[in-house]
Amino acid sequence: MISLNVNNTTVEVDVDPGTPLLWVLRDHLNLTGTKYGCGISQCGSCTVHLDGQAVRSCVTPVSMAAGGKQITTIEGLAEQALGRNVQKAWQEVDVPQCGYCQSGQIMSAVALLKQNPNPSDAAITAAMDGNLCRCGTYNRIRAAIHKAAEMGAA
Ligand code: FES
Ligand code: FES
Repeated sequence: MISLNVNNTTVEVDVDPGTPLLWVLRDHLNLTGTKYGCGISQCGSCTVHLDGQAVRSCVTPVSMAAGGKQITTIEGLAEQALGRNVQKAWQEVDVPQCGYCQSGQIMSAVALLKQNPNPSDAAITAAMDGNLCRCGTYNRIRAAIHKAAEMGAA
């Protein structure tokens, strides 16, 4: 059994330690807001937080997320003031198109704003570079991050 702290709840899962965190979240814990895109750390759709840092859950063995580390998924983001503000900014700017990439985009945006409460366009580009959007919502993502920063998101 592997013990995990997911969205402030301790859970135990009976999986091989090398199982990607993404599969544990989706298939064992039914947290399906985190999406599978490429499986090789190239698209960002599977982004979650590990102790507040954005990580690609498709290439993170579950054993690396155990040991009391705090795993936060899109489902747990509303428990944080910053997470709520970013989600509100996303709604106000009406960012999503198909929506598939958006939970990963939001998780990366929150991680950025934790580190840098008022990021420049260049800082946003650098931080969000690994999160792909096939629908091309990049300009609205940038606008929503600026709006979240204005809301005093930190
Ligand atoms: S599914 Fe993890 S980066 Fe694409
Ligand atoms: S909103 Fe469709 S892939 Fe990003």
